Amino acid sequence: MSVLLQVENVTKHYAGSVKGQTIRAVDGVTFELEHNEIFACIGESGSGKSTLAELIVGLQQPTSGTLTWLDDARAPHMSKPTSQPQLVFQNPDRSMNPYWRIRDIVTEPMRLGGCPKRQAYAEAEQLLAKVKLSADLLGRYPHECSGGQKQRIAIARALSVSPKLLIADEITSALDPSTEAEILQLLLSLKQSEGMSILYITHRLETISGFADRVAVMKNGAILEMGETDSVLADPQSAYTIELLRAVQYS
Ligand SMILES: Nc1ncnc2c1ncn2[C@@H]1O[C@H](COP(=O)(O)OP(=O)(O)OP(=O)(O)O)[C@@H](O)[C@H]1O
Ligand SMILES: [Mg+2]
Repeated sequence: MSVLLQVENVTKHYAGSVKGQTIRAVDGVTFELEHNEIFACIGESGSGKSTLAELIVGLQQPTSGTLTWLDDARAPHMSKPTSQPQLVFQNPDRSMNPYWRIRDIVTEPMRLGGCPKRQAYAEAEQLLAKVKLSADLLGRYPHECSGGQKQRIAIARALSVSPKLLIADEITSALDPSTEAEILQLLLSLKQSEGMSILYITHRLETISGFADRVAVMKNGAILEMGETDSVLADPQSAYTIELLRAVQYS
């Protein structure tokens, strides 16, 4: 395994509403993401997961620390616009223009990258096929698609630029359990077929067994525990992870 991204001692602090107060959204996080792995980030609401995702895709700048992209030890991959990391959000409606057809939504990143409309449209059908959706959806608007279909469309849009890293931030939270399982299965197969890494953010520890290669448990902006998913689930080291596992067993 080779390293794709090094996150070293990264913090993101915000000024609070009370004078002098500091919100430590991300507080000294260090880890490495490897090529072609699914890395789960688990934590309760407010633990800093989305802030970490925004730092990785460059929507936020760290207060301190460094993020270093390594692409097979060649040029930093951020310099290649076609492989920018892609972020898929919990609520697809917030990231999709309701007045655009699916054809235009899935090809938007390609068009922004300078791809001519005709060429982008020609690839749209194949992009939907990658997420196991029928090309019939291309002419529809978002409100004519189900929640699960919209998340697949959001994934297809992310895949359009062949990212080295796809970040899925709570993308199954609004879906029923069987649709959630189908999306996880899809991500697993895309990891293989696209050869990309996936940072899978969730607060649901019970979904990552048999799915994520490694997991980091976050609380209050910091990583409490990190390791192979099977070992963390079988032999959790931090009291917080034990508490999370117990909550799942009794739910
Ligand atoms: N722009 C901001 N300004 C001030 N505080 C912020 C900002 N963004 C996030 N925070 C705070 O940083 C902390 C971490 O937020 P974040 O959204 O990263 O958590 P999360 O783990 O994604 O939570 P959730 O599971 O609810 O999505 C929270 O206390 C949040 O209120
Ligand atoms: Mg979040």
